[in-house]
Amino acid sequence: MPSSPSAIKKKFETLFGHMPQMFFAPGRINLIGEHVDYNNGFVMPAAIDKGVWFAVAPNATDKVHVYSADMDEYLQVPLSGIKKMSGWENYILGVVDQFIKNNYPISGFDAVFGGNLPVGAGLSSSAAVECGLAFALNTIFKSGISKVNIALLCQEAEHSFPGVQCGIMDMFASMMGEKGKVLLLDCDTLGYETLPFAAGSHSIVLINTNVHHSLAGGEYNKRRNEAEEGLRIIKQKYPSVKTFRDMSPQQVKELKNHFKENVYKRCLFITEEIQRTKQAAGFLKKNNLQAFGELMFETHEGLCKLYEVSCGESDFLVEQAKLHIEIIGARQMGGGFGGCTINIIQKENAENIISSITKSYKEKFGVAAEVYEVALSSGTGEIALH
Ligand code: GLA
Repeated sequence: MPSSPSAIKKKFETLFGHMPQMFFAPGRINLIGEHVDYNNGFVMPAAIDKGVWFAVAPNATDKVHVYSADMDEYLQVPLSGIKKMSGWENYILGVVDQFIKNNYPISGFDAVFGGNLPVGAGLSSSAAVECGLAFALNTIFKSGISKVNIALLCQEAEHSFPGVQCGIMDMFASMMGEKGKVLLLDCDTLGYETLPFAAGSHSIVLINTNVHHSLAGGEYNKRRNEAEEGLRIIKQKYPSVKTFRDMSPQQVKELKNHFKENVYKRCLFITEEIQRTKQAAGFLKKNNLQAFGELMFETHEGLCKLYEVSCGESDFLVEQAKLHIEIIGARQMGGGFGGCTINIIQKENAENIISSITKSYKEKFGVAAEVYEVALSSGTGEIALH
């Protein structure tokens, strides 16, 4: 199974008999600001050094030919016959559909893609596939779409084909990431700043629960609906409020009796998380990683008790992290219900600590957790292969 850029390129040449252009789209982590991208909040993601490679070239026909190296499956459809399917095909077809609907230049193309991002681990493999393909099509057909608009196009593709009503964070981070930096993204205006994450003596380590969570499974969209319901109630009481950003946790508490219990908890989490992310940005700017890490633990608490998107496996990993003073912050990352926890850990002795955590995890759940140390990397782009 090819999982290197040269293997992807070679597979393309063997399958299609001509030369492709090569692209890379990274997955993302998110340090803090969870489930607030679709609630007009701030998020702090970064692109990572794991992702998806694409080999793509026009084929002078009206057909789309795509081979998924990781799945060992092949898709062939005419541009006039793009409709929803199931599985990985939707990430490809959703993007093609957006090009057609927006009248961006597109004609038939051949593509091979594959990567090294674990699927279902909360690292946005789906956004990486969408961004990689959209960036490649924009390049080979000279469509002239800006990077931010490619991210928005991919978000629309995700809404309409796989059907997950996701926010903009994943696509934005995959497109706009910068080496060594995190993005502080204002999801209301899409304005952002890059902040160096000068981890220095610390590493960012992800521990994959290996519990498969499916955002399309409905819980994610349910949270979105609950948040919308909460905001409607808030607006009745405070007509000047436009978004959650105009509300404090204290004001939500004062309205407690007006919400159903679950909606109250969601609103409280959202307003707290927006506040926490702003505070975290302040700590990062002062290079106070210790205080930053404390807020990550608080986020996990909120994801668990208020937003109710964690699970026994990730709660356990975070509890284990708290036992080690060397781990200054940890929490479940991404949409939820499993996937990875993100841990900021002192480099010295990190290996021993992480292996003692994964050992306890295996003993408790009978499942092996995988560990990835990640580096913060550049966003989606064309790559040169020698
Ligand atoms: C998923 C979604 C994002 C975001 C996170 C939670 O990754 O795709 O838009 O909402 O969950 O923060």
